[in-house]
Amino acid sequence: MQGIKFDFNNMFSANVGTLHGVEDKDIAEISAGLQNADAHLKKILANPRNRIKLGLEWANLPYQDAKTIKEIQKLGNEIAKKFDNVIFLGIGGSYLGLKAAQDALAPAYFNEFKEVRKDKPRVYFEGNNLDPDTLSVLLKNLKPRKTCVVVISKSGETTETKAALIVVENWLKKSAGKKYGRQIIAITDPESGALRKKIKLEQANDPLSFRSLPLLKGVGGRYSEFNMGLLHLAILGIAIKDVLSGAKDMAVKCSRAHYAENPAYMYALLHYLLYRKKNKPIAVIMPFSETLKSCADWYVQLLAESLGKKYSRKIKAGADGSEEWLSDKAAITNTGRTPVSCRGTTDLHSVQQNNIEGENNKVVTFIRIEKFSREIKIPGTADILSGKSFAELLKLAQEATEWALVRSARPNCTVTLSQVSPYNWGALLFFFEMATAFEGELLNINAFDQPGVEGYKNYMYYKLGKPGISQDIANEIKNHPLVKNTKYIL
Ligand code: PA5
Repeated sequence: MQGIKFDFNNMFSANVGTLHGVEDKDIAEISAGLQNADAHLKKILANPRNRIKLGLEWANLPYQDAKTIKEIQKLGNEIAKKFDNVIFLGIGGSYLGLKAAQDALAPAYFNEFKEVRKDKPRVYFEGNNLDPDTLSVLLKNLKPRKTCVVVISKSGETTETKAALIVVENWLKKSAGKKYGRQIIAITDPESGALRKKIKLEQANDPLSFRSLPLLKGVGGRYSEFNMGLLHLAILGIAIKDVLSGAKDMAVKCSRAHYAENPAYMYALLHYLLYRKKNKPIAVIMPFSETLKSCADWYVQLLAESLGKKYSRKIKAGADGSEEWLSDKAAITNTGRTPVSCRGTTDLHSVQQNNIEGENNKVVTFIRIEKFSREIKIPGTADILSGKSFAELLKLAQEATEWALVRSARPNCTVTLSQVSPYNWGALLFFFEMATAFEGELLNINAFDQPGVEGYKNYMYYKLGKPGISQDIANEIKNHPLVKNTKYIL
């Protein structure tokens, strides 16, 4: 039986005490807010114009038509057949979902062993950092003619991805000559942006180069795994329809109006209450699995970029039901729980000490797997571990960690996957996405933009001399240089 379950027993005062747990009266106090949040979210989701303009089109991704999926699948099969290696270039939302999917759904050591990979190409990720020590080694060791490059960038402007693309293009060009663009696939905005412009230019020279797939309007990077991540799944041979089917079933559950029947609403409201009423600003996400470690990293971005906001949201509603969300400059809120990614059992010998005895300011979310794809039994009879399976021990370790947290009055909750399957993967991601959207409603912030990321970008663009930097930004940077007093440097 496939499926995921959300166990929130240990979020309540009955298990962790009134000082650190939610009480029924806390929920009752915000019941009007919960109803308003549900009604508002539903209103936005029901209106395609609002959905696209405000960045909630991701909620419709589980319902993509079969024809689109078939075409992506076809392209994925073609790439998998033709190439030995695929390099995905992208960062943030254009990277983390893919990496998480690969680690969870493809067999471990996928790139290392041909027998594990079967007839699939090796799949690498680059363009997610500016560290020269990784890309240079990769390019030195791959054969360009046997390598496909998939560049993913909504804006086409992101420095890390753009820099990697220029280098990789050059590398391909040297070996494949004029037709090098036939080895590049671009996933980007359907109409605008620097990458779309480049696709048009390249295709004017060679119509078969830079084949592209669209990043749908109204789908922000971190909510886009079911859009731009699909080609990657197709290349790996992962059943896209099962992923979307899991997401769809979860979408139905997450559309229930009452929080008591809606796992995403329940997840959001309990975390919101613990944050606001019980001083729990740290969100520890802790899968008990090596293969779900990158899923925790994906969640870190989802939570941090969606809910870490300076301003409250001011809604400007039109008479026709349309909405515009503005930053309420009069209401600085600086809100958002801080996510921390760790994994069991590895980090039981690290972060867990702080989780148990450090400040009681965190909520731990465990991800637990009921049935693993493979099994190892410990041989012999002499040891207490003899005859036990790794999966049994891992599940016991999760239970033990949960128990230890409860005994120390530390709130925690558990999301259990019957197994790591494409179906459950789809369900898990949608669950976290909807929970984050609902928490954004409760906090009254815009969960679908990331204005805070602009600061570093602007500074880099200014220093790099990018044309078109506004005078205000240029002045801001010029007038506020970093101060480096040697007195404070040893
Ligand atoms: O969630 C987001 O929107 C961001 O993390 C972006 O995905 C990230 O900044 C990369 O942007 P782009 O896809 O435009 O290169």
